[in-house]
Amino acid sequence: MKIGHVLSLIMVALLALLGGMAFQRWSGDPEMGKRLAENNCGVCHDMTASRKHDKGPYLWEIVNRPAGVVDYPFSPAFRKLAEESPFLWDEAHLDRWLSDPASFIPRTKMAQQSKDHPLAFDGIKSQGNRKDLIAYLKTLH
Ligand code: HEC
Repeated sequence: MKIGHVLSLIMVALLALLGGMAFQRWSGDPEMGKRLAENNCGVCHDMTASRKHDKGPYLWEIVNRPAGVVDYPFSPAFRKLAEESPFLWDEAHLDRWLSDPASFIPRTKMAQQSKDHPLAFDGIKSQGNRKDLIAYLKTLH
C-alpha cells in the first residue's frame, strides 16, 4: 500500500471518530445524564417507576407528559400556566425549564426556598449537561 493510501485511511478513520463524538454531544449521553440527575434532581424528585411524589412530582415518563397533570399539589403559578396554555414536556420545553425554571414560570415552587422546602433549583447553565440530562429522562419509561 502506498503511503498516500495509508494516510487517507487514517484520515477517514479519524473523521469517523470525530463524527461519532459530535453525534454523541448532539444527542446527549444518558449515562452522564443519570449522574447529573442523581446530583441535581434526586434530592426533590423520585425518578423510579414507583411514581412517588417527593418535594416535586415524580419524573417517571416525564418526556412528552403534559405539564401539571399528575396528582401533585402544584404551585398556583405553575397550575395557572399549565391550565391556560397546556404544553407537553418535550425536549424544547424541558431545555427551557431546566436552564432557568424561574424565568419560565416566575414563582414556581421548584426555584423557591421556604421553611419546609429549604432547597431551590436555579437551573443548569451548561447546554451540554442539559442535553445529557434530557437523554437520561428519555430512558425513564
Ligand atoms: C429543590 C427541589 C427541586 C429540584 C432540585 C428539582 N426540582 Fe423539579 N420540581 C420541583 C417542584 C417543587 C416542582 C413543582 C413546581 C411547581 O409546582 O411550581 C417541580 C417540577 C418539575 C417538573 C414539572 C413536572 C410536571 O409534572 O409537570 C419537571 C419536568 C421537573 N421538575 C424536572 C426537574 C429536573 C429534571 C430536575 C433536575 C435537573 C429538577 N426538576 C430539580 C422541585 C425540584
